Amino acid sequence: MHIFVTGATGWVGSAIVAELVGAGHSVSGLVRTTDKAPSLSAAGAQVILGSVDNHGTLRESVRAADAVIHTAFNHDFSKFHDGIAQD
Ligand SMILES: NC(=O)c1ccc[n+]([C@@H]2O[C@H](COP(=O)([O-])OP(=O)(O)OC[C@H]3O[C@@H](n4cnc5c(N)ncnc54)[C@H](OP(=O)(O)O)[C@@H]3O)[C@@H](O)[C@H]2O)c1
Repeated sequence: MHIFVTGATGWVGSAIVAELVGAGHSVSGLVRTTDKAPSLSAAGAQVILGSVDNHGTLRESVRAADAVIHTAFNHDFSKFHDGIAQD
């Protein structure tokens, strides 16, 4: 099975990638910056460079996958209200 993992370099995502690769799955992982790419490659996953805001990249990666595991998450809540419509 080919599985696309967002947050693939995060605490949860990297553990999931290791489990999936170990179980024999083909894995692609979303990485925001090139400095994180080597560790994901070393884990045996294909690196997809981009963020969850790159909808074209996301669409393409999801289409190519049999399953998606979404663990990307931004813990910075300082701009939380910027993304919410205010009345
Ligand atoms: N850690 C726990 O104990 C725990 C327990 C239960 C549930 N969870 C949930 O599991 C999820 C992941 O948590 P975590 O602890 O693994 O967090 P984490 O270590 O901070 O990893 C988050 C990942 O998301 C990526 N990311 C953040 N914003 C992104 C964006 N805009 N586009 C693409 N990637 C983005 C980060 O990339 P960068 O490395 O580039 O920042 C990182 O790889 C969260 O929803 C969290 O609430 C975690």
